[in-house]
Amino acid sequence: MTVLVTGGAGYIGSHTVVELQSAGYEVVVADDLSNAKADVIDRIETITGKRPVFYKIDCADKAALRGVFENHPIDAVIHFAGFKAVGESVQKPLQYYRNNLDSTMTLMEVMEEFDCKKFVFSSSATVYGPNNPYPYKEEMPAIQSSSPYGWTKVMIERILTDYVTAHPDCCAILLRYFNPIGSHESGLLGDDPNGIPNNLMPYIGRVAAGKLEKLTIFGDDYPTPDGTCQRDYLHVVDLAVGHLKALEYAREHEGVEAVNLGTGNGVSVMELVHAFEKANNITLSYVVGPRRDGDLPAFWADASKAQILLGWKATHSVEDMCRSAWDFARNSK
Ligand code: UD1
Repeated sequence: MTVLVTGGAGYIGSHTVVELQSAGYEVVVADDLSNAKADVIDRIETITGKRPVFYKIDCADKAALRGVFENHPIDAVIHFAGFKAVGESVQKPLQYYRNNLDSTMTLMEVMEEFDCKKFVFSSSATVYGPNNPYPYKEEMPAIQSSSPYGWTKVMIERILTDYVTAHPDCCAILLRYFNPIGSHESGLLGDDPNGIPNNLMPYIGRVAAGKLEKLTIFGDDYPTPDGTCQRDYLHVVDLAVGHLKALEYAREHEGVEAVNLGTGNGVSVMELVHAFEKANNITLSYVVGPRRDGDLPAFWADASKAQILLGWKATHSVEDMCRSAWDFARNSK
């Protein structure tokens, strides 16, 4: 079985390619490298002993995408490619809507041309918006977000749902991720954003490596046990395995399903900072600053549907996540 992984050189995509290849799938990666490095493909080869086929293309380029489908018998697509910086999306909404929606719809059109009916989509817990109570459950209304980035996820979920309603022999799995952190045990893959990181764990990694002076904790006056925000952090390898399980499900089923991928546990910023220090025997410099616009005090997953439907459950501890994140961060340039 051949799987096209768009955005397969990125953080979550690359870990998923490793799991797919290890499970015996043929993998074709399409990535424009706008937020990833080409040597990730070499690293995947080092880890798995097999080089995925790689196309440096933009998924909104229909002719290029057709070429991929002409050259390979693509049975299913896992779609990661997309812009993902929340703050940047507020500054450049048009760019986010154009890129994320165009690439998805172009991909869907080409899949239809080549009779490819299985789609796994990289969605986000951000689709639950600011008004749902937590833990978030899939049947809650997921029709709102707090940033243009998040709205692209809401819209793409809608587009896929409407498409599958019109083509009931297709299958789309909408994977709503909580907060993936950590890295592959080899230390060769990880979260290495260009520029100053927006997300907590890559920022912590750069502070620990001495590349950034100190972490700013965004607010300690939230209505949470220690005043800092709580999130559902999950190990990126667990998340990658979740994609494998979703693909296995999609192969056997039709219709559309939204599935949370999280641990079901809330961990605060302060708890994560201390867990990182303890797991790695490091002292992190940090200060408490003001709240960041748009942050919610707390949310985590009800992770039961993933277990029932896909047979998936997160297995790595917060300590595993912190140790592996540092293994990668201290080795990256
Ligand atoms: C955000 C997005 C989510 C997206 C994810 C990964 C929302 C509501 N969530 O999650 O959709 O998938 O990024 O791109 O838009 N923090 C600090 N200091 C820092 C950085 C972060 O204290 O320097 C805190 C934040 O306030 C937050 C927590 O750490 O409480 C996690 O932040 P982050 O890693 O950016 O993820 P989210 O905002 O939860």
